[in-house]
Amino acid sequence: MDGNDRWGEAVRGEWTLEPGFISVNHGAYGATPRAVLAAQDAIRARMEAQPGRFMRAELPEALRRAAATLAGFLGTRGESLVFVANATEAVNAVLRSLPLAAGDQVLVLSHGYGAVRNAVRHIAARAGARMVEAAVPYPRPTDAAILAGLEAALTPRTRLAVLDHITSPSALVLPLAAMAARCHAAGARVLADGAHAPGMLPLDLPALGVDWYVGNCHKWLCAPKGAGFLWAEPEAQAGVQPLAISHGIDDGFTAAFDWTGTRDFSPFLAVPAALAFWEGLGGFAMMARGRDLVATAAAELAAALGTETGTPPDSPASMATVRLPLADPSRAAAFAAALLAACTDAPAHALGGSAWLRVSAHAYNTAGDFRRLGSVLRRVLPDWT
Ligand SMILES: Cc1ncc(COP(=O)(O)O)c(C=O)c1O
Repeated sequence: MDGNDRWGEAVRGEWTLEPGFISVNHGAYGATPRAVLAAQDAIRARMEAQPGRFMRAELPEALRRAAATLAGFLGTRGESLVFVANATEAVNAVLRSLPLAAGDQVLVLSHGYGAVRNAVRHIAARAGARMVEAAVPYPRPTDAAILAGLEAALTPRTRLAVLDHITSPSALVLPLAAMAARCHAAGARVLADGAHAPGMLPLDLPALGVDWYVGNCHKWLCAPKGAGFLWAEPEAQAGVQPLAISHGIDDGFTAAFDWTGTRDFSPFLAVPAALAFWEGLGGFAMMARGRDLVATAAAELAAALGTETGTPPDSPASMATVRLPLADPSRAAAFAAALLAACTDAPAHALGGSAWLRVSAHAYNTAGDFRRLGSVLRRVLPDWT
């Protein structure tokens, strides 16, 4: 995928990424292309030309138009979608709005994102409720094994299950609809953490059967940083409040979230430009190329290291994991810091007694990036094995 590729080197100049740095970690913070940054700059210029006109006369409708555009891409309606800065904020808003009681349980997955698990633990504890963990088997789990791990952790006290759509440390695409159905059958509501999913997977949010879905546009859709969303149908919107209560709190879901105080709204308003850029690059055809690129790279890296991949070979994700032969797997994060110091951005996590390196591929990545990653690993690993 180096030669006649329509992507890779052919599009890398669309981004401002530092030449020479091995950037194979798009999943973490995304990377915003020049065209989307320019759209964001234009929005900011409009705002600063006349702030009062922008905030009062233009912003309310512009926000709703941007929400409707994103909602259409996600198979839903603008009235069911509000912007928030990021998935963390959206998860916190839902968790803080729930009436938890002493003895209640909130289920999280063992591969759940650390910040989200912290939010669950703290907010549950305030009510005398408890966080309960469902074990996700690894590596290369089947859907049946994932569902069995979930069922084993559901109890009559489970009020809420926080389910990842795509897990962060392990890059697994989970069978979310089937998991949500099991949770509902057990009497638990479902908050889906889809931080990685928009732009990586085709989404039809209502078809997933979850109560709330949170996602980020600043990862795979390449929106400016600070463009997350919360989706809920009207019955699940009731009682859900933003973290900051402001003017619109008594005027319904979208009004409550659309204004949470003066801030820079340009990341939200630039989401349609990001979507247009992403679609112009080839949309899901481009993502399929990234998926194939990363799956091949992970298999080759695992073979070179004499280890294995954590993600299944047929995973639909544009991220994959490779087991690292670290003498002390609990030092995975320190190892990733050593890679960063060697101009290589790929995170590593300890899971189930092993350390796993996660690699991502977006349009700008090439097979050469992963070959260079292999060289860096050969150079750095001897100090860690
Ligand atoms: C599964 C998952 N949830 C939540 C988040 C948090 O995203 P943000 O930092 O944009 O709030 C991430 C970030 O990587 C994630 O992977």
